Amino acid sequence: MYQEIDLDKIDMNAEPPAEEPARQYYFMAKCRQWVREFEGKNGRRPTACIQTFGCQMNARDSEKLLGILSQAGFQETDREEADFVLYNTCTVRDNANQKVYGHLGYLRNLKRRNPDMLIALCGCMMQEKTAVDRIKKSYPFVDIIFGTHNIFKLAELICKRTGCPSGRREMVVDVWDSTEAIVEELPTERKFPFKSGVNIMFGCNNFCSYCIVPYVRGRERSREPEDILAEIRRLVQDGVVEVMLLGQNVNSYGKNLAHPITFAQLLRRVNEIEGLERIRFMTSHPKDLSPELIEAMKDCDKVCRHLHLPLQSGSSRILGVMNRRYTKERYLELVEEIREAMPDISLTTDIIVGFPGETEEDFEETLDVVRRVRYDSAFTFLYSKRTGTPAAAMENQVPEDVAKERFDRLLKEVQGIAGEVCGRDTGTVQKVLVECPDDHQEGYMTGRLSNNTIVHFPGGKDLVGRIVEVRLEEARGFYYMGSRIQDRSACEPC
Ligand code: SAH
Ligand code: SF4
Ligand code: F3S
Repeated sequence: MYQEIDLDKIDMNAEPPAEEPARQYYFMAKCRQWVREFEGKNGRRPTACIQTFGCQMNARDSEKLLGILSQAGFQETDREEADFVLYNTCTVRDNANQKVYGHLGYLRNLKRRNPDMLIALCGCMMQEKTAVDRIKKSYPFVDIIFGTHNIFKLAELICKRTGCPSGRREMVVDVWDSTEAIVEELPTERKFPFKSGVNIMFGCNNFCSYCIVPYVRGRERSREPEDILAEIRRLVQDGVVEVMLLGQNVNSYGKNLAHPITFAQLLRRVNEIEGLERIRFMTSHPKDLSPELIEAMKDCDKVCRHLHLPLQSGSSRILGVMNRRYTKERYLELVEEIREAMPDISLTTDIIVGFPGETEEDFEETLDVVRRVRYDSAFTFLYSKRTGTPAAAMENQVPEDVAKERFDRLLKEVQGIAGEVCGRDTGTVQKVLVECPDDHQEGYMTGRLSNNTIVHFPGGKDLVGRIVEVRLEEARGFYYMGSRIQDRSACEPC
């Protein structure tokens, strides 16, 4: 169980402990010494900025990285003109990598003005040797590089870098190929006080033929259910009402544990946690979505009425080459089973256009599934060649202009349907978790329905983090405008 650790009580004259997480607390304390020296010299605490690229996994990792930096005494900022800048990178598609290289050009200029600035890179892109080699060669001003398997070592790596004798400022590179270890009990600093991601597993064993994730995140490892439940209870005590259980394929959770447990069983146990209001999870692979999970979703009152079920392609032939291990027919059957059990569920998906060998007929099959399922929303991606994946070596790559033209057609279809689907709950009263003030309208708040749709309604900032009842007055494309139903318990007695 995680406990607040008083870093000032750690003996800095002793050797660093060998075991984790004690070793990392030792280095956090050491980092804090460095921070204090900085403060003595500059009259202020050093600032730290973390930029996150990529998915919810990375977003959650960034909260852990920020937890370590906060313990060490850094002052968080969202400005890149900081004393310490950390990019948590993604490499799922090539444009994610290009973004990082673009940003590094900007950091080069900042570092020219502030040579003491520390720059660190971590995350999925750093697991690729070619990316690290390019950074070493073309961006030698980067101070620290580490990967996805050792984010818990941030404080140790900073100490290694700041401990270098002056004049010998060598880049610290520490990227692991794989790990079995899951280091628990490290500090985290949440972005939202009222909701949080919770990792239930790491890595992926599926090796979809286009996807780089298994190569950069390693094999599937599940956390012990007791550790997950303890973390969620702690989060609830700290004000969290909604958790998002995170894994690349949550449906295969628990298989590799000494005492195997299914995702459905875990969901039922999370549902029992008192004070927790909402449970979401991401992502479900259709091949592993069991009838047991559908039952559990239906039974558990806290599980939100939303399922993200990546389709990738509607063509059974392409799905076969993608190594997805389901067919168009099986996917459609699954959707039927889910909707039969939970008629009000919202379905969202991911679709790739222009996978090698995709013909017009294959693409029409994708459009057909989109028209039949009528998704609430869909993330659509142009296929991106990832070196080292089987699909990258396939000879029949689809020309860019053909893929782009299909992409535009798909997007139009998806958006048209999503706009129609969104209006189906107009006039109903629904529970809304209030997230933040509306960016566009003074005096309005923004929240989410159980099915993940966004609602804007008049209200004050005091509502943030609360679940309130809102009448959905009008659907506008992908969101609703609503009005709050006043809390009856707050009424004056009549
Ligand atoms: N584990 C999740 C997906 C993680 S990656 C799952 O299986 O659903 C998120 C999405 O990125 C994928 O669903 C896929 O649609 C897309 N994606 C992955 N690799 C891609 C590639 N090489 N080109 C284009 N899109 C890709
Ligand atoms: Fe990638 Fe497939 Fe694993 Fe998802 S399930 S992360 S798409 S390999
Ligand atoms: Fe990107 Fe890594 Fe997530 S490649 S999508 S940040 S798992």
